Amino acid sequence: MNKAMQAALEVEEQEMQTNSAPFDVDRIREDFPILKQQVHGRPLVYFDSAATSQKPQAVIDAINRYYAEQNANVHRGVHYLSQLATREYEDARVKIQRFINAAESHEIIYTRGATDSINLVALSYGRKFVHEGDEIIISALEHHSNIVPWQMLCELTGARLRVIPINDAGELLMDEFAEMLNTRVKMVAVSHLSNALGTINPIKRIIELAHSRDIPVLIDGAQAAPHLKVDVRELDCDFYAFSGHKMCGPTGIGVLYGKSHWLESMPPVIGGGDMIASVSFEKTTYNVLPYKFEAGTPHIEGCVGLGAAIDYLSEIGLDRIAAYEHELLDYATEVVGAIPGVKIIGTAREKSSVLSFTLDNIHPHDVGTILDDQGIAIRAGHHCAQPVMKRFNVPATARASFAFYNTKREIDALAEGLQNVIEVLK
Ligand SMILES: Cc1ncc(COP(=O)(O)O)c(C=O)c1O
Repeated sequence: MNKAMQAALEVEEQEMQTNSAPFDVDRIREDFPILKQQVHGRPLVYFDSAATSQKPQAVIDAINRYYAEQNANVHRGVHYLSQLATREYEDARVKIQRFINAAESHEIIYTRGATDSINLVALSYGRKFVHEGDEIIISALEHHSNIVPWQMLCELTGARLRVIPINDAGELLMDEFAEMLNTRVKMVAVSHLSNALGTINPIKRIIELAHSRDIPVLIDGAQAAPHLKVDVRELDCDFYAFSGHKMCGPTGIGVLYGKSHWLESMPPVIGGGDMIASVSFEKTTYNVLPYKFEAGTPHIEGCVGLGAAIDYLSEIGLDRIAAYEHELLDYATEVVGAIPGVKIIGTAREKSSVLSFTLDNIHPHDVGTILDDQGIAIRAGHHCAQPVMKRFNVPATARASFAFYNTKREIDALAEGLQNVIEVLK
């Protein structure tokens, strides 16, 4: 056995040992300074990670270090700091590439977040490939970020928006989807994991069906990237969009993954510095990927922070995170579901990290406010998914969303908190 093979075997063995170690959530919680605080005199219970995740010290340190030791503008300088900042910026891109198993680092476009990524595709791909009479398919489970950009595109072009319906459990009706596919469809855009209900969509099957008709697929992975192992090559999706802040990274940074051949064929949507090869008043030519889509000074510290977040998550292991969070969701479904008057909204067979519910005769906003008095942070509202609320005939739900730094003790606190809500408002 040569040295390289031996080294590879040792790494694999180490990984197997790390991955088989028990999930030490108390140790992990030590990494998150914010979780140590009290809210209204009670230990903070943070169940709002679907809105934004908390940040580990490693990410906070990476951002501090960037400003204390590395700050300069990227791609423009021959000086030491500019080269250092550029290296950090590009290293983070490679980390993201590996994290989602993209074939090339230039398939990773930095954006402001999932919303920005989806808008980029709607504006750029849409401008070139979508015309009057064409169709765009989304699903009834989408966040507004994966509805409105397509709706705007349809208004602009005269294309038609079509919606895959869902059943009462919050699962896509796949037979109906298959029947919606035809030569007019120019894009299928669906979420990987629903933020409102927690449903994990069968995206591999969706991609296969769409590809059998040569239709590209965009996956909104804003909720999935922090909770499920994503392999864009295995999925074979054409675009995958996600946000840094939901996966332990900073706000204002996100990712659009796109297959090279699509990105190459799409026009830039924002013009300015860095996205050009040459500029004259007569004609401007554009830069190569990924810079063609990254006009202006980027969110450098955001990229550095996201790179650190990816290192952090990878060290724990997405498979272990997913397994632990699955346990948490099962436990929460059982204890919260057993409270009289609770109705769980979204009972798909494949679910992750989100528990949406209503309480008989109590508005979700009151649930959220009374839980907050007890130090428990949940979200109440339509979760930027008004069509989902309409489908279930509720104005809003209470939503507890979980991350790998949550515990069963905290779920017990939530159940106790909900009993208090019922006591106070009965
Ligand atoms: C499923 C889904 N898609 C898109 C978004 C938009 O993400 P961002 O606001 O980070 O752009 C969210 C945010 O909650 C989401 O849950």
